[in-house]
Amino acid sequence: MNPFVFHTPTRVYFGENSASSCGDFLRELGGTKVLMVADAFLEKSGALAPLIDSIKESTGIEPILFTDVPSDSDVDCVNKATVIARTSGCDALVAVGGGSVLDTAKVINICLTFGGEVLDYQGLNIIERKLLPLIAVPTTAGTGAEVSFVAMVKDHGESKKLMFGSRFLAPDVAILDPLMIVSLPAKLTAATGIDAVTHDIECYVASGTYSVFTDSLCLESLRLLFEFLPQATIDGDNLEARGATLVASCMAGVAFTNSGVGITHALAHAVGAKYATHHGMTNAVLLPHGMRFNFESVYPRYARIARFLDLAVEASNSIDGNSISSSDDRALAHLLLNKVEALLRQLKLPLNLRELGVPELTDENLAELVDLAGADPAIMFNPREASVEDLTQLLKRAY
Ligand SMILES: NC(=O)c1ccc[n+]([C@@H]2O[C@H](COP(=O)([O-])OP(=O)(O)OC[C@H]3O[C@@H](n4cnc5c(N)ncnc54)[C@H](O)[C@@H]3O)[C@@H](O)[C@H]2O)c1
Ligand SMILES: [Fe+2]
Repeated sequence: MNPFVFHTPTRVYFGENSASSCGDFLRELGGTKVLMVADAFLEKSGALAPLIDSIKESTGIEPILFTDVPSDSDVDCVNKATVIARTSGCDALVAVGGGSVLDTAKVINICLTFGGEVLDYQGLNIIERKLLPLIAVPTTAGTGAEVSFVAMVKDHGESKKLMFGSRFLAPDVAILDPLMIVSLPAKLTAATGIDAVTHDIECYVASGTYSVFTDSLCLESLRLLFEFLPQATIDGDNLEARGATLVASCMAGVAFTNSGVGITHALAHAVGAKYATHHGMTNAVLLPHGMRFNFESVYPRYARIARFLDLAVEASNSIDGNSISSSDDRALAHLLLNKVEALLRQLKLPLNLRELGVPELTDENLAELVDLAGADPAIMFNPREASVEDLTQLLKRAY
């Protein structure tokens, strides 16, 4: 077995209506003034009310609301919220929203704890001590930001995503309440779910960094996602399916934050930074291409996933099914790739970058995307080295 380190500092609380325990967790963590970070939709929809009530009831604190967080949040938003939090004397945070809100709150927490400018803290392991208490309540099931050690916000001036990475960025508590995501529209449910699928698959084959801990999380998370993501997408009120996808994306979050992701994420970050495409949808387009690129290097690992998911049995039961030997790694790995592509078609997600709204890729645009992807930390964990030419060809194929 390879040597490994596994770490998960976040307390995870799952259950229907668990959001109304937020105040109890906050009382335990301490804090006298709370900044609640969310987005305008959640405020308007009344989704924040159970959290606010619970905080008032358990701690007597009336949270200060900051709900001006755009999808794909940025440095300006972090700075604006930090000024409000500082002026109000906030010493604890509650973040309620998708990955954009959770990441924004993590970066606000850095600025609030240490002072200074956002840009001073970007990069890996710059933050070396505990931040102020942070509770994360995800309202999408995909990013795993409620448990991860990273946060990404956009720097519009530079057209790139800034990455902040440190184990101290992990929230203290993650509250997974299926009731908080029932309002998520079908397309975003599908796209965010595929983000989690991508975390699992990339993490499972990450270059020498996966471990038995992360393997187990990825496998069970994938099983839950293949089973429940279609249901959660078609029937958003199905709390069992919503709950399963929330738990699965949190498990994927714990896994990838320990072992890394890979080429699909590196390219998705680049495309998202340049063309403001949604992170999950961009992963959905790029994942089959990333898997094909890595195929020869990792097909025995893909085959292990296929075995865990019983894909050979599923294939032999299908109408035109041929039986596949359980020792034929290559064939099993192909079944996983087919399964992923079938899921993407079932979820009606965009199948190429053009459908995603990316304009024609000129040589200049391609070069810029390849530069961004090549410098993205995710690429370090890809199991196969990717040259400039490899990245360029992959993007062309995905277009
Ligand atoms: N920190 C990490 O570990 C990590 C991992 C992956 C992605 N990310 C980041 O997360 C961001 C993407 O997050 P996301 O995919 O969760 O999307 P998002 O947070 O950008 O939200 C997408 C849209 O969904 C809406 N929304 C959110 N919850 C809703 C609900 N319950 N009902 C109705 N609408 C709702 C939001 O208002 C927004 O318009 C990107 O910035 C990406 O870089 C972070
Ligand atoms: Fe992701």
